[in-house]
Amino acid sequence: MRKVEFIDLPNLDKARKRQRIPQTIEFHFNPTKEAVEYFKGKKYFIRTYGCQANIRDEETMCGILNEFGMLKTDNEKECDLAILNTCAVRENAEDKVFGQIGEFKNIKEKNKNVILMICGCMIEQKHIIDKILDLFPFVDIMFGTHNIKDIVLLLSNFIKTHTRYIDVSSYEGDIVEDLPVSRLETYKAFVNITYGCDKFCTYCIVPYTRGKERSRSEEEILKECKELESKGYKEITLLGQNVDAYGKDLKNGSTFAGLLDKVASLNIPRIRFLTSYPSDFKDDVIDVMKKHKNIMKFIHLPVQSGSNMILRAMARRYTKEEYLDLIDRIKTKIPEMEFSTDIIVGFPNETYEEFLDTIDLVKKVHYTSAFTFIYSPRVGTPAAKLIDNVTYDEKVKRFKELVKALEVDFTNIANSMIGKTYEVLVEEVSKKNKDLLSGYTENNKVVHFKGDKSLIGNLIKVKITESHVYSLFGEIVNE
Ligand code: 5AD
Ligand code: SF4
Repeated sequence: MRKVEFIDLPNLDKARKRQRIPQTIEFHFNPTKEAVEYFKGKKYFIRTYGCQANIRDEETMCGILNEFGMLKTDNEKECDLAILNTCAVRENAEDKVFGQIGEFKNIKEKNKNVILMICGCMIEQKHIIDKILDLFPFVDIMFGTHNIKDIVLLLSNFIKTHTRYIDVSSYEGDIVEDLPVSRLETYKAFVNITYGCDKFCTYCIVPYTRGKERSRSEEEILKECKELESKGYKEITLLGQNVDAYGKDLKNGSTFAGLLDKVASLNIPRIRFLTSYPSDFKDDVIDVMKKHKNIMKFIHLPVQSGSNMILRAMARRYTKEEYLDLIDRIKTKIPEMEFSTDIIVGFPNETYEEFLDTIDLVKKVHYTSAFTFIYSPRVGTPAAKLIDNVTYDEKVKRFKELVKALEVDFTNIANSMIGKTYEVLVEEVSKKNKDLLSGYTENNKVVHFKGDKSLIGNLIKVKITESHVYSLFGEIVNE
């Protein structure tokens, strides 16, 4: 058995604490000379699961590894270092990672010098670390979401000692500035505005894996946005688990509305933000959205459930009526606003009547798109302790019923777009048809159309000719 060194182990109780005030610290790239020599020109492979926060973390890790002189590869079979950047939000996300770790066994058998690292939200859970130690002895390094800045140190130590390292700090977290970044796209970017979450919805693992809600300073955020502006980026998405809480902890009067106003005043054609929390969403944000044409008139506003009983059991801090009232207030000021949402079906002991309240809400809001999930118990969360009287088959049945109800609106909204012309940010060659390009409209609908690859990264006008539940087809309009 190889030696294992536990630098720090995850602890959900410690992660739950909210006592210490997070600090802003600066990152310094400080590898050993041997590490620089060892890694220069070597290839790394990284696979990210889960949300935009994880994608942004991937960009940071790539930034750091590129400073090492390493090169990114999309082919895991030719890499010298492999990183799995994991998600813990539902069990199926974790299962995918376990499957992928298994595949690395063969790769490591062929080349024992490949270093395998696993990081991200899964690693913030002690039972997952135990499982990996037990089942996958070939995993070399595991580190948590707070330890990304330490990747250099971990790699430097590993090449010296070949010890398996586990480094997971369970704490409120800090804000690390000046981390290198290698962005995955050249035309759209994510900018973190807050980290962590203090909401502790009873089903959710995120407040434990990502620490206390903490805001970056306006100055740092605007610096990052201005840099993206100068590089010609077309779209910025401001990121946080709850963007509406931005500034609360800074205690200097900063608010999300104020920040959004400043970011939208830059010369960036498209501004989006993710994710909003209904009862923290303030009317001044609606006013700023109305004021700026470049803020997309599309809000992702997770509701989770339409039943007040279930919302209370989830510790969501609003009622169905308050949610619908917010939607009304937004639509009164900005009639063209469209919405997407997240909904969980089958929360423990949800009755069919309570589920029907969700269907009722969905029919009232008319969502343009939605992410739907079957409840997945997460070890250590309050909901996971509940004894559930709803069978899995019943949950699947409700899930399908919900999707059917949502698809009525998806279809109607998509149909209403036929014949009209929309601005589209061209993203890539269509995955299903190499002769087509794909891009996104203001309301985040994917559109496929014929066009030259050189258009990727540009905003163009597309007339919609055909609609499907989840996609549109169109043709470029030359002005
Ligand atoms: N089970 C199912 N869905 C979940 N989500 C978060 N935790 C769980 C869970 N335990 C969903 C919520 C959230 C989205 C990112 O993931 O809908 O908004
Ligand atoms: Fe999880 Fe709730 Fe925080 Fe969203 S607001 S990250 S669902 S705890």
